Amino acid sequence: MFIEPIGPAERQFGAVISGLHAGEIRSDATLALLNQALAQYAVVGIRQMPLEDDVQLVLAGRFGPIHQSILDASRRRLADRRLNDVGNIDVQGNVKDATARGYGDSNLLWHADLSFLARSARITLLSARVLPPEPPPTEYADMRAAWDALPAARQAELASLEVVHSVFVQRAKCGFTGFTDEERRAAPPVRHPLVRRHPVTGRRALYLSSSASHIANWPDDEGRALIDELTAHSTQPRFMLSYDWHADDLLIWDNSVTMHRATPFESSEHRRELRWTAVVETV
Ligand code: OGA
Ligand code: MN
Repeated sequence: MFIEPIGPAERQFGAVISGLHAGEIRSDATLALLNQALAQYAVVGIRQMPLEDDVQLVLAGRFGPIHQSILDASRRRLADRRLNDVGNIDVQGNVKDATARGYGDSNLLWHADLSFLARSARITLLSARVLPPEPPPTEYADMRAAWDALPAARQAELASLEVVHSVFVQRAKCGFTGFTDEERRAAPPVRHPLVRRHPVTGRRALYLSSSASHIANWPDDEGRALIDELTAHSTQPRFMLSYDWHADDLLIWDNSVTMHRATPFESSEHRRELRWTAVVETV
């Protein structure tokens, strides 16, 4: 087994593990290695790791409690609420019309998973099941490097701010506003610190997402302007990583120090199917 950084080694953002055997996936040594790699590189791709749903759930469960979807069963493709379907397949199992727009498109916006929940996603596991001939890459922003690049005086101004997040802010950005009052009551806004310290490395990172609405205790417009400015700062090419998918990849990332987004995939011929599992924050 060996681990290789993606991009320049000094960047410490993104790595690929090869030669890990499926049989090793349940061992404590493998878990320790993956946790170490995630702390260091934040985004870790494991090559040649075809997963069945039940094995993905076992592995995810080793990292912590697994998120369960609350979406109505009629809107879900998979019966098990701990697994989400990512890609271009509709609930009937057909390739989505390439022009279909709406709810699912929020993956195209820079985000951290489940940032609109009090217990947001810490670790996401995304397993490639079916990829098109030219798979669209998934892009990541290194929120640790983005923080490090800010002048010290700016860091001091930002260090104790809290950001208000809402799923409805996120969905509205991709044109989806059709939520009922009941749905709105079921998902009230939550607050997360703008700056977080990683429990293993002690490194600080900005925490932003497309669900970021405004800054707590600030006028809305000023808060939105700050969020937009910091999002633009964090997603500059120098902080970005583009992950190229290969068949049977398992990609794991730490949402507390990254943002990510899907890139457009306009095929109505080829299937793209990945399985998503999120491990939630416990504090
Ligand atoms: C996700 C996600 C991006 C992609 O699975 O959480 O944002 O490229 N996916 O599908
Ligand atoms: Mn996501």
